[in-house]
Amino acid sequence: MVVNLEGVRGWFESYARGFDLTEPMLEMKYVHSRDVMRVGEALVRDLGWGAAEAETGVAACLLHDTGRFSQYRDFRTYQDGKSIDHGDRGYAVLAAELPRELADDGARAAILESVRLHNKRELPKGLGEGVLPFCRLVRDADKLDVFRLVQRCMREGREVELLPSHRLGLPLSETLLDEVERTGRGSYANAASMLDYLLIQMTWTLDLNYAPSRAILRRSGILDDIRGRFPRGDARVQRVLERLAGAADS
Ligand SMILES: [Fe+2]
Repeated sequence: MVVNLEGVRGWFESYARGFDLTEPMLEMKYVHSRDVMRVGEALVRDLGWGAAEAETGVAACLLHDTGRFSQYRDFRTYQDGKSIDHGDRGYAVLAAELPRELADDGARAAILESVRLHNKRELPKGLGEGVLPFCRLVRDADKLDVFRLVQRCMREGREVELLPSHRLGLPLSETLLDEVERTGRGSYANAASMLDYLLIQMTWTLDLNYAPSRAILRRSGILDDIRGRFPRGDARVQRVLERLAGAADS
């Protein structure tokens, strides 16, 4: 497994600059890509991966949202349900455009597959060892950066960039709470308010693959911040939140 990480970074820069990055929606994905790469760098260090695997994982993190750029250009939305699956689009773009000489077959397969699968609800069973660790890495790094992104938005009072303003202050959906209590997962179809989205985000604690990912999240204080936004008097909500936060403890 060999990858030319500098070459991949250069390719990504020029690919992204082929789009209008003065458009805030596109610039946001460009920044997110680089931030997820940085989270990936921290994770492979904590995981103690060897150089080749580490560089392949970091490259996959940087490239994970490659599909977002042409998705937004073509459909003016990031909602996959209303346009295309952006993981599949990223795979197609990279398969066609990432120069072969930047990665050998093993690294290329690991990168392309982890891009394709980064946004699927669950990873399919039976992925090979040449691919699975990289899929897990990208999914963890992506979630950790989205936790930070949402925090930053709330801190800066820019929640309307995440949700329409008329929905922000709605109470927690009972249907969603039932679903999370029962299954440990929440569907976006059952979510409307900020608290709904935060509850879904709390369920991601159950989906983080690596102990260092959970450690980074724990140390960030983000889980405490999220819990503090829910009504303290509601014992049922608090019990669910406590269980989800507890999943990040090991
Ligand atoms: Fe994505």
